[in-house]
Amino acid sequence: MRPSNIHVAKTVCLWAIWLLPCLVDGAAKGNVLLFFVDDGGFMQSSYNNTVCKTPNLDKLASQSVIFRNGYTSVSSCSPSRSVLLTGLPQHQNGMYGLKHSVHHFQSFDNVHSLPVILSQHNIRTGLIGKKHLGPESVYTFDYERSENQYNQDQIGRNITFMKQFVREFLSQKDDRPFFLYIAFYDTHRGNGSNQSYFGPFMNNWGNGQPGMGVIQDWKPETYDPASVVVPYFLPDTPATRQDIAAMYTSFNRMDQGVGLFLQELKDAGHLEDTLILFTADNGIPFPNAKTNLYEPGMGEPMMMSSPFHKDNWGKFSHALASTMDFAPTILDWFNISYPQYMLNGGRVSLTGRSLLPLAADPAASGFTHVFSSHNFHEVTMAYPMRVIVNQQYRLIHNINHGAPYPLATDLYNSWTFQDILNRTKSGQPTHWFKGLRQYYYRDEWELFDLENDPQELKNRAYDSGYSQVFKQLNQTLAQWLQATGDPWRCMPHSVLFDDQCYPMYNEI
Ligand SMILES: *[C@@H]1O[C@H](CO)[C@@H](O)[C@H](O)[C@H]1NC(C)=O
Ligand SMILES: *[C@@H]1O[C@H](CO)[C@@H](O)[C@H](O)[C@H]1NC(C)=O
Ligand SMILES: *[C@@H]1O[C@H](CO)[C@@H](O)[C@H](O)[C@H]1NC(C)=O
Ligand SMILES: *[C@@H]1O[C@H](CO)[C@@H](O)[C@H](O)[C@H]1NC(C)=O
Ligand SMILES: *[C@@H]1O[C@H](CO)[C@@H](O)[C@H](O)[C@H]1NC(C)=O
Ligand SMILES: *[C@@H]1O[C@H](CO)[C@@H](O)[C@H](O)[C@H]1NC(C)=O
Ligand SMILES: *[C@@H]1O[C@H](CO)[C@@H](O)[C@H](O)[C@H]1NC(C)=O
Repeated sequence: MRPSNIHVAKTVCLWAIWLLPCLVDGAAKGNVLLFFVDDGGFMQSSYNNTVCKTPNLDKLASQSVIFRNGYTSVSSCSPSRSVLLTGLPQHQNGMYGLKHSVHHFQSFDNVHSLPVILSQHNIRTGLIGKKHLGPESVYTFDYERSENQYNQDQIGRNITFMKQFVREFLSQKDDRPFFLYIAFYDTHRGNGSNQSYFGPFMNNWGNGQPGMGVIQDWKPETYDPASVVVPYFLPDTPATRQDIAAMYTSFNRMDQGVGLFLQELKDAGHLEDTLILFTADNGIPFPNAKTNLYEPGMGEPMMMSSPFHKDNWGKFSHALASTMDFAPTILDWFNISYPQYMLNGGRVSLTGRSLLPLAADPAASGFTHVFSSHNFHEVTMAYPMRVIVNQQYRLIHNINHGAPYPLATDLYNSWTFQDILNRTKSGQPTHWFKGLRQYYYRDEWELFDLENDPQELKNRAYDSGYSQVFKQLNQTLAQWLQATGDPWRCMPHSVLFDDQCYPMYNEI
């Protein structure tokens, strides 16, 4: 293990008071706290939802740069977490789908994950909450309290249960800087059994009512279905409204957790030297969102709070930012160079960018586009997509476009989707902005003009007026797929003997 740059830098800063600016503009600044929400969407007032109560996120927003164009690199749980913690897209790190049970997807054994790199640089790493990643040898934390040790609802939704570990981690006698990753299980849907009892989002669990137990630090909020905001991509029906009201209760429980854990950070004396990041793994668990890479599936709430850039707190950034940028951001914060190594015969180098310059200047230039890449959700859901988004357009390549779009179990079972099915079967209006046929059968290429068609209803990919736009986006996307060694990049016209696509072929 080589001596920590941070320690050296900190010592230099302390000894040389006249070098004080190095604490401000230098790279070695302290700790990182990363909040990751499960299936969380735009439910805070800085994103114009004033119904769902989120006082703690609102406070954090007032101390952050808030991203208007924050995106996930893949709208599916384990793959998204793998990108967050490696900086590599799922098609490169190997976590092609969900980790648990029969799905059993894993990253490649020789991937260098963020916690391992940080640990090698003498930074203490902790995970509290949902992990959902494998193999363990790649995703090793110094301190782990996850579903590997505890019931997932306790460790991800019971904010009192989680608090004891946050406190334990923060009070450990250890002078090294830390990276603490807190991953909520809220606002994921419940496991499906007994939905009407526990609520579709386990939103009744712990509310103190008979049979529910209590979460001591949680003051449950309930919402009148008539008052919720139904986004354009969902049908405005009683079933959907009930579903959304339940999600708000679960989101609010997470919000109260954020407040509780930030208080722990403050009590530990680290509010002034900790970078706080907040985002979610994928879109909300509703049709057209989670597992999709349309705007509601790919867009995420995203905030970055740097104690050294208070001038910009509360400002919005229009930069295109991705969860793929988080590993570079955190490495940059700790002044650690990005990893370079060989993986599957190709050279790995992170293609994301540090977002830290946006803490100093939310209007900093250069953040012009982001990529997403999806292969599976559940193992039966093979639907590879490759996507590029810039300020005006989204281009999607649906590689397996001949097949119907596959439905995730939790979304299929949701009241919202069952209601769409029931209405379709009985010939009633669904009040949905799409029909099922349109949702299931997608063109190979989809190009949307987000500025003029924010609901993404007119596919321009086959419109000659957009051929230049298409060509340029496709070229940039193809370059990125090449740079990240995407094994799917030659599909659907797979040429088995093509050296470009199968560089290892001649060595077998
Ligand atoms: C950051 O790292 C570089 C290269 O390792 C080193 O030259 C520089 O002094 C470091 N800066 C700080 C502030 O630690
Ligand atoms: C919120 O609403 C205001 C006023 O209509 C608008 O200017 C702003 O862009 C909206 N913000 C978001 C994040 O949608
Ligand atoms: C689903 O959650 C309920 C409530 O916590 C629990 O009783 C049940 O065992 C869970 N079922 C599965 C399959 O995990
Ligand atoms: C739902 O769970 C509660 C508490 O465990 C139980 O009393 C009730 O019978 C269950 N209902 C069904 C339909 O399983
Ligand atoms: C939540 O965790 C606390 C602390 O461990 C425990 O006392 C409480 O019973 C838990 N709540 C539920 C609903 O399990
Ligand atoms: C859909 O219809 C089935 C069968 O009639 C019914 O049991 C179910 O409750 C309905 N679901 C919704 C969300 O309306
Ligand atoms: C997209 O770009 C790649 C790389 O230049 C090219 O091989 C492919 O034919 C292009 N696809 C379309 C549909 O134009």
